[in-house]
Amino acid sequence: MIVDSFFPRKIKAALKNEPPGMWMPNLPDKCIRLSSGYPAPALIPTEELKAAVVNLLEEEHDLPLHYLGSPKIAKLKEKILKKLAERDIHVSGEELLMTSGACQAIDLIARVLLDDETFVIVESPTYMEALEIFKNYTQRFISIPIDQHGLQTDQLERVLEERRGKGLALPRLLYTIPTFHNPTGTTMSAERRQHVLDLAVKYNFLILEDDAYGELGFEKSPLPLKAIDNDGPVIHIGSLSKTVAPGMRIGWVAGAREFITACSWFKKDLNPSFTQATMAVFLDKTNYEERLKLLRNTYHDKCDVLISAMEKFLPEYVSWFVPKGGYFVWIKIRGVDTSLLLNRALSAGVSFVPGKHFFLNQKHGNEYLRLSFSYADKNDIVKGIRILGNLLM
Ligand SMILES: Cc1ncc(COP(=O)(O)O)c(C=O)c1O
Repeated sequence: MIVDSFFPRKIKAALKNEPPGMWMPNLPDKCIRLSSGYPAPALIPTEELKAAVVNLLEEEHDLPLHYLGSPKIAKLKEKILKKLAERDIHVSGEELLMTSGACQAIDLIARVLLDDETFVIVESPTYMEALEIFKNYTQRFISIPIDQHGLQTDQLERVLEERRGKGLALPRLLYTIPTFHNPTGTTMSAERRQHVLDLAVKYNFLILEDDAYGELGFEKSPLPLKAIDNDGPVIHIGSLSKTVAPGMRIGWVAGAREFITACSWFKKDLNPSFTQATMAVFLDKTNYEERLKLLRNTYHDKCDVLISAMEKFLPEYVSWFVPKGGYFVWIKIRGVDTSLLLNRALSAGVSFVPGKHFFLNQKHGNEYLRLSFSYADKNDIVKGIRILGNLLM
């Protein structure tokens, strides 16, 4: 039996893409991981989460382990609503859906909005897993470049105007990471935020705002797009992966009620209900604002260490953006193919993600790479950059 002959056209098309996770380097033992966009191991609240599990089971016994789960699941949702309101996003319970991380939210949104005729606008570069997800549903993309002030909305307007003028299909969705972008670390300016919202209304598309790093500003974080979208084109997604623990798989999507209903249709009851209840207990016992302060200070400090090491050890033809938050620094190395450099770097004991994985047209990323300052400790960050510097001399 030829099993793949049973796959519908859409699935066959999706399976022609690169397999998921191809961007993840195969790391030798003891490699310094400047590739990993993971939280610092010391900042994962292991003991507090352990206490939350014990507390939950002592209080509710088998209840959180049943299909219907614990009443604490509803408490978690209330906490996220409150958290969103503190960032000026005022939505009701019917406008918020809890998901298994932000990635499930992206997948549900893609499932609800895209068919293989649909155009999606993506930033260039952008988060590679979002690209992987969108490519499972459509092959039609419009790529708009990013600079140090985020998405170049003038270029977006030009492209949209031209498409309308020529009678070409207009996009239905824009995917953006306006705050502490992955991979570039940049943040969209206030003018561009307003401009992109105006364009969404004028050209009738929805904006998927991925705010995975929004709470991790070293100083102040800008207001999310969702907080200023008077006409409601923004679907906002968030996550506790970067601020608590990615293995808990706690994320959400906030948007118009009809849209959230459609997403919940397909999500069904595929909830990590035990971890949701555990997270509710954890948040109840934790001063989250204090936790954020610790995270912001720690990551700010590690970012400074990375930048100082780059200034000291990297040759002059290397350039970068200095981020104001998040996990990443985006580097350009003129004349160097960073995929080839990665092989040498791994042999020398340090990893990064080659830039090509963040672009639809991978050639555009050849001279770029993403470094993460979140996971490795400060000594290793300096060691890792010294190794990279030696390879470039
Ligand atoms: C921009 C962005 N969105 C979403 C995610 C994934 O979040 P989650 O772990 O909640 O699925 C990440 C993780 O790296 C990310 O960088």
